[in-house]
Amino acid sequence: MAENRKEIGPYDYIEHFKRNTGLLVSMDKNGKPNVMALDWKSIEEFDGKPVIRATVAYTRYTYKLLTEDVNEFSVNIPSDKIYSAIDIAGSYSGRNTDKFKKAGLGSIPGKKMSVPTIKDSILSYECKIIHSSKSNMSSHHYFYGEILAAYASNKLIK
Ligand SMILES: Cc1cc2nc3c(=O)[nH]c(=O)nc-3n(C[C@H](O)[C@H](O)[C@H](O)COP(=O)(O)O)c2cc1C
Repeated sequence: MAENRKEIGPYDYIEHFKRNTGLLVSMDKNGKPNVMALDWKSIEEFDGKPVIRATVAYTRYTYKLLTEDVNEFSVNIPSDKIYSAIDIAGSYSGRNTDKFKKAGLGSIPGKKMSVPTIKDSILSYECKIIHSSKSNMSSHHYFYGEILAAYASNKLIK
């Protein structure tokens, strides 16, 4: 199946990454993915590697999945087609809602890891957590995910 996207470098099209809300996908130990809206994110370097730093509150189900289950995540910047998923991903919890189903999101299996990326994204990143630390806000935690692969939709590249 054509994915309508190409692999890019970790810093390509970064302006689109910066100015849009992201969808962070994590996964439980049975392989079920969960998605959360993510505004507090940046692309930077850690230990000489390109990383996405995701800031996640301790209260999120996502925090549990990232610390107790699978230490990988993907970050996806939605296209207009799936933009409304941000509301669902940002207001329901994966503890009691299958947000992929509720938002009608499709997934693309990870190439470099087990967590999938989201279909119809303009940008997607596969990240493996290499470090985490307390954030300056006592309510949140930083996760540094090394960018193992990055993709841009063909529409963005044209
Ligand atoms: C636009 C938007 C951006 C958000 N950004 C963040 C963020 O950067 N970090 C965070 O911890 N929560 C953020 N949230 C809140 C979570 O997405 C929300 O609490 C979500 O329901 C958590 O889902 P979970 O319990 O399945 O992990 C944001 C919500 C919205 C609507």
